[in-house]
Amino acid sequence: MSKGDLNSLSLETVLVHGTVPFDPATGAISTPIYQSSTFRHPGLGQSTGFDYGRVTNPTRAELERTVARIEHGKYGLAFASGMGAISSLIKIFKPGDHLIVSEDLYGGTYRLFDEYYGKYGFSFSWIDTSDFAKMEAAVRPETKALFIETPSNPMMKVTDIRRSAELIHKRGGLLIVDNTFLSPCFQNPLDLGADIVVHSGTKYLAGHNDALAGFLVHSNDKVEVDLRNAQKSEGASLAPFDAWLLLRGLQTLAIRMERHDKNAAAIAQWLRGQDRVEKVFYPGFEDHPQYQLSRSQTRGHGGMISFYLKNPADVAVLLRSVTVILFAESLGGVQSLITYPLVQTHSAIPEAMRLSAGVNDKLMRLSVGIEDVKDIIADLDAALTQCKKENK
Ligand SMILES: Cc1ncc(COP(=O)(O)O)c(C=O)c1O
Repeated sequence: MSKGDLNSLSLETVLVHGTVPFDPATGAISTPIYQSSTFRHPGLGQSTGFDYGRVTNPTRAELERTVARIEHGKYGLAFASGMGAISSLIKIFKPGDHLIVSEDLYGGTYRLFDEYYGKYGFSFSWIDTSDFAKMEAAVRPETKALFIETPSNPMMKVTDIRRSAELIHKRGGLLIVDNTFLSPCFQNPLDLGADIVVHSGTKYLAGHNDALAGFLVHSNDKVEVDLRNAQKSEGASLAPFDAWLLLRGLQTLAIRMERHDKNAAAIAQWLRGQDRVEKVFYPGFEDHPQYQLSRSQTRGHGGMISFYLKNPADVAVLLRSVTVILFAESLGGVQSLITYPLVQTHSAIPEAMRLSAGVNDKLMRLSVGIEDVKDIIADLDAALTQCKKENK
């Protein structure tokens, strides 16, 4: 199969085969792990295309091409974690630049921007980007980018990618979309006008809670020079073995996403009917405030659900009572995980901002796995029954 043929293949097939379906030297159908930190030069001024592992590595290069292909970008860059990717991304901006950022986003991104880049002369406005008027009002002459998560983490608000792109492009800036929650199976921000896509590859792309990774995907030649330079200068590049784990995880991404999506839809509906649950946040509900918008820019709602318990005292009981669902901080893997954002993923966000975004002491976030949905529901049911026993 030639590379040309692969260009016309569907997402599911590219995920399975990557961009080089077998190793030309040996016929190996699993991409070899090139566990080498350096590469011999054939002669002075000559290179095999690989010189030093921080800069590039054949296993990582195949992963970068594959992720670029599935996100419909020209370039892909793989990092040691999602935060590594975001930190290198910021290097394409200059002190004095202003970025508008979704207020309801992964707490680690908030910490990186506010505690670190804030000190080095960058400024950030934290805005509910699902409200277009608020986003528009926050634009300043020095605004160079919009950085959005949609659906947002953890409140599941949806931001209009097309309108955001128009808004920032009029001012010559960039739209950056963290697409971790939906994966390229359900949302392709570059097709909707975004300039750069971010992924915590640790989540759905790896898919098995066994590897950390981060990605940037885009199609801009000038940005590519800056990003490659940042990647090689900072050294947060993905290691060869982890690149291989990601390639293996990607092979099943499409079928995993289908199952996450189906399970989450059933569980969101079930949670809604529970008397100890106050409210469920899930973009697949027809009465979700941005349901139509979500339908217009995605092909699925994903596996993430947040919900408020009525009684904050139920939180501890629920977290200790679940057994199929694991109380752990992450998302997007085959195992269902439950998180308490207040003290875990969003602890870095100041209280006033957290509360205004809706992250309070009753909020739980569920990453629905691919187990039998009956077992997940039975687990939640037993845990909520235990809450009723202990807290009346
Ligand atoms: C939406 C989102 N973006 C970025 C990150 C950071 O990724 P990593 O943990 O791989 O550094 C996370 C981590 O939870 C996340 O949920």
